[in-house]
Amino acid sequence: MNITIQKNPNPGTLPPANQLGFGNYFTDHMFLMDYSREKGWHDPRIVPYGPLTLSPASAVLHYGSEVFEGMKAYRSPENKILLFRPWENMARLNKSCARVGLPELNPEDALDAIRQLVELDRDWVPSAEGTSLYIRPFVFAADAKLGLHTIEEAIFAVILSPVGSYFKDGLQPVSIMVETEDVRAVRGGTGEAKCGGNYAASLRAGDRAASLGFSQVLWLDGIEQKYVEEGGAMNIMFKIDGKVVTPMLNGSILRGITRRSCIELMQHWGMEVEERRIALDEVIEAAKAGTLEEAWCVGTAAVVSPIGELYHKGTSYVINNNQIGELERKLYDELTGIQWGKRPDTFGWVDVVC
Ligand code: PLP
Ligand code: COI
Repeated sequence: MNITIQKNPNPGTLPPANQLGFGNYFTDHMFLMDYSREKGWHDPRIVPYGPLTLSPASAVLHYGSEVFEGMKAYRSPENKILLFRPWENMARLNKSCARVGLPELNPEDALDAIRQLVELDRDWVPSAEGTSLYIRPFVFAADAKLGLHTIEEAIFAVILSPVGSYFKDGLQPVSIMVETEDVRAVRGGTGEAKCGGNYAASLRAGDRAASLGFSQVLWLDGIEQKYVEEGGAMNIMFKIDGKVVTPMLNGSILRGITRRSCIELMQHWGMEVEERRIALDEVIEAAKAGTLEEAWCVGTAAVVSPIGELYHKGTSYVINNNQIGELERKLYDELTGIQWGKRPDTFGWVDVVC
């Protein structure tokens, strides 16, 4: 794709690794491309990172027509910049667009844009252990019309943010709260799409959990509030009595790329992984019986995060003595080893940008 590039005349500098946190700093440039029904996607450009100008009537501001992706660029020991299964993110972005009526992208062009942007801002990819450059591609409706209508104008944008760990304590076990009031997704809804509205609807529960000292919410199904679905920004896995189980893809949880990668790794190690409906009762019974050996969250931002405590209706269940489990550690080491280019990429998951 022929992208015009306008360089930032006032480039910034990468903050020290211990200041990064998650999503607080942005690089020198961003990518933008416009869509109109007449012209299709056009005017791909890299410009200095900065505010956007939008009509106050833009559909995104009223009807929440927005979808996004989350991926990372990693700096290898040889100073190469690597992406992890970026093709999967492009495919999922298009599925999300289709679900909320936004125009789909040419996935090769979208990935090309990301690669060119990351290459230009490559000095912003941090190198300290556990750090990376978070990539946030997003598509939103820009047409200025208040009637509910088919989207006719949209923008595809990509911004970059050097990040450390998503949870403030890094790989240390996190405590999560089972949400029993709000639900995140319902049958036929947008649960499987990565659209902004899903997250807006989840923030109240997230705030409640945070005010009680929990770092994340665990969502239950939207119909019976009986089955485990996923975390606020991550999928979930359990090891119960020697067997790994994870909620099946039922249309209401996100098709996590980290989830798929962990399943494929465990299968490669000869382990059986069950993807099925998991009742919360089953997890709690296992915790009481001492057979809930490990529980962990998986996601691009969260990587592999052990769950040390599960809180449900006033009772806390401590998992694995609040320690990092053996399987969690093995998954974390292998996955991050491949992502950071420290272990062989036997599955062909790594894409070298430069
Ligand atoms: N579930 C939700 C709701 C998410 O926001 C994310 C993060 O992207 C995930 C799961 C994990 O998906 P992935 O591993 O593709 O990042
Ligand atoms: C990701 O892991 O990329 C996410 O989407 C997390 C984000 C909602 C903070």
